[in-house]
Amino acid sequence: MATTKKINVLFSAEMIRRRIRPLAYEISQCLDTSQELVLVVILKGAVMFGADLARALAPFFPLLRVEFMRLSSYGNERKTSGEVKVELDLSHPIEGRQVLVVEDIIDTGTTLGYLVRLLQARRPRTLQVAALLDKPSGRHAGNGGVHADYVGFEVGPVFVVGYGLDDAGFYRALPYVGVVED
Ligand code: IMP
Ligand code: MG
Repeated sequence: MATTKKINVLFSAEMIRRRIRPLAYEISQCLDTSQELVLVVILKGAVMFGADLARALAPFFPLLRVEFMRLSSYGNERKTSGEVKVELDLSHPIEGRQVLVVEDIIDTGTTLGYLVRLLQARRPRTLQVAALLDKPSGRHAGNGGVHADYVGFEVGPVFVVGYGLDDAGFYRALPYVGVVED
C-alpha cells in the first residue's frame, strides 16, 4: 500500500516551525499592518502552512481574514496539465484590500500564474504570494515571471510529500516534508 513506503525527511516539523516565524515577520515588514489582510489559502495542499502562517501573522495583523480557494488542474497526479479550474471560490471580495496567496509549492508555475491573473482582475490593493516550497527547476518556459514574494524553502527536482502535500491523496497529514523512497 502507498502509505507504507519509506519517507526521507527533507524539512522536519521543527525546521518548518522555525522558518514560519521569520517569514511572518518579513511579511509584516513589507505590508501595511494597519490595513486588512486577506490570506487566500489554496486547498488542499496549503492547509497546514496556511494554518501555521495565519497564527504567526495574527499578532502583526489585527485585521486578518482567512479565505480559501480550491483549484484543480487536469492531468495525472504528479504533473499539471496547464488547464486550471476554480472549484471553490472566495466568500469575500478582495477589491481594494491587501491579499496574500498562500501556496504549498510552486513547480511549473501554471497554477499560480492562472490564479494571480484571476485575482488581479478583481483589483486588490496589493497581491503577493507566500509559498512554503519553491521548485525553480520545474518552472515551464512562459511561466518565468511567476514567483513567490515569500518562500519557505527551495527544493530540487524531487517530488515531495507531507505537511499538506500529497501523493495521490496520501501523506498530507505528516508533520514534516519528505521524499518518498521508490
Ligand atoms: P504547478 O502548477 O506545476 O506550479 O503546480 C503546483 C501544484 O502541483 C502544487 O500546488 C501541488 O499541489 C502540486 N505539486 C507540484 N509539485 C509537487 C510535489 O513535489 N509534491 C506534491 N505536490 C506537488
Ligand atoms: Mg496536489
